[in-house]
Amino acid sequence: LASIEVDVSAVAEGQSITVKWRGKPVFIRNRTETEVEEAKAVPVADLPDQNARNANLPADAEATDANRGVEGNEKWLVQVGVCTHLGCVPLGDAGDFGGWFCPCHGSHYDTAGRIRKGPAPENLLIPPLEFVSDSTIKIG
Ligand code: FES
Repeated sequence: LASIEVDVSAVAEGQSITVKWRGKPVFIRNRTETEVEEAKAVPVADLPDQNARNANLPADAEATDANRGVEGNEKWLVQVGVCTHLGCVPLGDAGDFGGWFCPCHGSHYDTAGRIRKGPAPENLLIPPLEFVSDSTIKIG
């Protein structure tokens, strides 16, 4: 299937689920306010990859937190769970920046899924998505 619909009503704040889309894991996280605030506090100029890598935005969109979260519902973060280095699956709630950590070669992603340290060249990819109801996200 090109697209999937995911019911996220049971995903409490601070929790994540992983779904499969086009054969790849997709991480869906209901971020806490602290996670969002931490991500917002980072100047884009400090980021190794300053591109939002968000398929829903223009290709040159900056990697602000607002451009990483779901538009209009920014506590939600939906991203393809494939490390942009060599394709391992990063671990959640891990790493030096409170986001994801890829154990293969040590890439640290922050609470907006942006690469902060390690060999990965790009932020985790945000797939095409939209909320089709209050609690259902369509991916693809
Ligand atoms: Fe993730 Fe190399 S594949 S750090």
